[in-house]
Formats: sequence, C-alpha cells, structure tokens
Amino acid sequence: MNSNARAAASALLLATILLLAGWLAGRTGADILPAESYAANPIDFVTRTEAMIAASQVGRTAEGMPVVRPPPGDVYVRVRRWEFSPALELAPGQTYRLHLLSEDVVHSAAIGDAEVLLEPNTVKVVTLKAPATGRVRIQCGEYCGLGHTKMIGSIEAVP
Ligand code: CUA
Repeated sequence: MNSNARAAASALLLATILLLAGWLAGRTGADILPAESYAANPIDFVTRTEAMIAASQVGRTAEGMPVVRPPPGDVYVRVRRWEFSPALELAPGQTYRLHLLSEDVVHSAAIGDAEVLLEPNTVKVVTLKAPATGRVRIQCGEYCGLGHTKMIGSIEAVP
C-alpha cells in the first residue's frame, strides 16, 4: 500500500468511527444494545424457550401465541416465518437479555432503534431496558418471503 492509499484508508476509518460515534450519541434513550452472539443447538434453544413459557406464561394473544412475563434477565425468542414467539410483557425499567434464534431463513430483528441480523444457528443477544409504559417495536427488517411485512412481534411494558 502506498502512502496515499494508507492516508485514504486512515481517513475512511476515521470517518467510520465518527459516524458510529454520532450514531451512538443520537440514539434515543440508548436502552437497547446488541450484545454478543453464540452458536446454538436449536433443540437446546427450544427447550429453554419452552421452559420459560411454562414458568412465565400469563395468557395468549388473539392469534394463539403464548404471552409470557419473564423475570428480568435472560429471555428466549424463537424466530421463524413469520413470527417472533412468544409475545413478551416486561416490567417497566427492568433489564432483559433477549436471545433470538432464527429457525428457518435469514431474518432480522429491528427492536426499537437497534437491528440485528438473524442467521439460522446463531443466537443474537440484545439487551433491552423496558420503557416506563407502552410497546417496544419489534419487526423483521430482512426480506424473508410472503409474510415478511407482517412479521411483527409483541413487546409491551406492563406495570
Ligand atoms: Cu422475517 Cu422478514
């Protein structure tokens, strides 16, 4: 690499850092942060999700999906065409770690102002502090077939 190319590369890196810093500073509330990812055994993941549902279910949505109110901490969400399951009720101001795993194709989870790409077999963990009231947007941001535009989950802060 000659010095001009090096200078250009340095400028590009600096611009990227500044953009990232600006994005972080501009985040509203900064209460949602993508954290780590890990390779998943899908069967273990489903087992953990089912255990959470069995322990914390409070009802069902109109579509028949379980609604859970898990304790603060780790929460497991199955992602597949075209749903995020289960629906979540969270305690205002409490912090949760959402573990998301796609069971079929590539999806994404746009949660509040953060978005994580969800590839099969890799769990993404997103830290979320529940707002005082209302819903947190969660929807798929990656085209995944006919039902993509309706792939919207449910996260609600409930005192
Ligand atoms: Cu899932 Cu688009």
